[in-house]
Amino acid sequence: MIQKSKILITGGAGFVGSNLVDALIGTNEIVVVDDLSMGSLNNLPRSPHLHFFKHSITDAAFMQQLLKAWCFDYIYLLAAVASVADTIQRPIATHEINEVANLNILETIKTERLSVQKLLFASSAAVYGNQPELPKAETSPIDPLSPYAIDKFATERFTIDYGRLFDIPTVATRFFNVYGSKQNPSSPYSGVLSLLSDSAKFDTPFTLFGDGEQTRDFVYVKDVVQALILLMRLPETTGRVYNVGTGHGVSLNTIISHFETIGGHKLRVTRTMPRLGDIQKSFADITALTKLGYRANYSIADGLLDYWRSLTTDQSNDGQNDHRKMKG
Ligand code: NAD
Ligand code: UD1
Repeated sequence: MIQKSKILITGGAGFVGSNLVDALIGTNEIVVVDDLSMGSLNNLPRSPHLHFFKHSITDAAFMQQLLKAWCFDYIYLLAAVASVADTIQRPIATHEINEVANLNILETIKTERLSVQKLLFASSAAVYGNQPELPKAETSPIDPLSPYAIDKFATERFTIDYGRLFDIPTVATRFFNVYGSKQNPSSPYSGVLSLLSDSAKFDTPFTLFGDGEQTRDFVYVKDVVQALILLMRLPETTGRVYNVGTGHGVSLNTIISHFETIGGHKLRVTRTMPRLGDIQKSFADITALTKLGYRANYSIADGLLDYWRSLTTDQSNDGQNDHRKMKG
């Protein structure tokens, strides 16, 4: 574990970020910068060791001041507009967030000669696009099909190349489809499993784009947090890019069946045309991550069950429900 460190997590009030905060809070001082466009304060624990700034990472002057004032040991760059479809609707605004703001952070570290122990950028499996090669290895061909994927790939390269050029220890992850507690289902662009769980829980309609045979490597957020800590801690990860997934693809039709079993009722599924720019098949080769000692502890059945229990039994579903009330 990272201990007694100063850690910046941009996007830390969001889904993955807040699960990471939960794991790191304790002996560390954690700073979260989040504009709450998708994240929520309800996702964050109350702690004197947690310092929250409701701010956009696109404010370069603010970020520069923060980085200089805190001299962070570790930086997780998670803030983003995470919806592929949203970036197709708003390519210019989302480019400023998903690429330019992160480049400004790297520039500040370089020009101010900040001594960061490691910086991690959250890229995406979306960079592989629709290339036929499966599973997707880190060396597989890149085919970014959306503004989201283009910005993720460019920022991933900036992250790794700033590391090499200016001796900043950096690493990048390509998350596959993360799911679990605190994923915000309030937007039609939200992650499909948050929408499906909402539909199962509240018996509301679910729109299925395409025939449901598209596959994704759905990885449980607790496994993703495990990977995020491992990659930050191990020196040999510096300068490299890692897939984070389970190594298995699952179709949406299979996921729908799982939810029907867990929830105990049929889902109200409406079928419509496939989404523009949608990827048909995707699953990860996680050999590189596995060599570091990572194990995906949750199969899809185990992960969905744990997720479902968190939604129906404990308080970690508050963030999800609050969003629903606020916006819906
Ligand atoms: P999320 O939307 O829950 O979290 C992103 C957070 O960033 C949100 O809290 C949002 O409010 C914040 N944010 C957005 N714009 C901001 C801005 N201008 N300034 C400050 N904060 C801002 O998404 P997530 O699923 O937690 O994703 C975390 C990261 O992982 C993102 O970079 C995403 O692109 C990447 N990723 C996620 C997945 C996935 O399946 N969830 C897969 C691949 C990559
Ligand atoms: C997701 C992430 C993206 C990440 C990528 C990595 C979100 C919002 N997006 O994109 O950040 O980089 O994984 O692989 O977390 N679908 C439906 N009905 C719906 C919503 C979605 O049928 O209401 C379908 C989509 O058409 C798609 C699949 O479900 O085929 C997954 O969609 P989505 O959850 O939006 O994820 P990705 O586009 O794979």
